[in-house]
Amino acid sequence: MDFDGLTKKRKSCRSFIAGKSVDWHDVVDIVDSANQIPSAGSISIIKSIMVEDAYKIAKLADACQQDFIRDAPVILVVCSQKDQLLRNFEKKGEVFAHQEAGAAINNILLASTEKGLASCWIGHFSDRLVKRVMKIPKDIDIEALIAIGHASSFNPMGKGKVYSRPKIGDTLYFEKWEEKKRK
Ligand SMILES: Cc1cc2nc3c(=O)[nH]c(=O)nc-3n(C[C@H](O)[C@H](O)[C@H](O)COP(=O)(O)O)c2cc1C
Repeated sequence: MDFDGLTKKRKSCRSFIAGKSVDWHDVVDIVDSANQIPSAGSISIIKSIMVEDAYKIAKLADACQQDFIRDAPVILVVCSQKDQLLRNFEKKGEVFAHQEAGAAINNILLASTEKGLASCWIGHFSDRLVKRVMKIPKDIDIEALIAIGHASSFNPMGKGKVYSRPKIGDTLYFEKWEEKKRK
């Protein structure tokens, strides 16, 4: 699929086929897509934990208070290790870490789509509980959890609601803020 097709096909899935597994080699490829992002100072700071253990996935669902997560066969816990960025860029290092995490997460979502898998970016979670389950050290930031699996249905906004993507005319300005016409 071409890039335009991939970005349009990707949607958040909140309904996975329970018990239908994902080849872990595919997950390795998907995580490797996060290694292709630009990185401030060429410092690699994004680390991901692949979780396939059903008990741990249930614990993560509890930590997110989102039940659909239980049915996902794989959860990626995407983290940033910002210490070297802070040393090199001081306060800006914190911003760079989150920006790089966003780039990494989007690559992961698109790579999952390219493999015919469904995914969901999960940002609502208890930091404390996820850290406890995953044994993540204090100085590491959890950026997101990503649920990956096979879709039983795509349900981006909840039953009965339709999410429409923003239109280009509402998101692109020319030469100055809120100028919608190109001269
Ligand atoms: C920072 C961030 C946090 C998110 N957290 C959650 C979440 O905790 N649970 C969830 O179901 N979806 C979450 N989403 C997915 C959004 O709800 C979803 O992207 C949005 O509704 C647009 O739908 P689409 O992804 O299908 O285009 C999150 C997305 C982002 C960017």
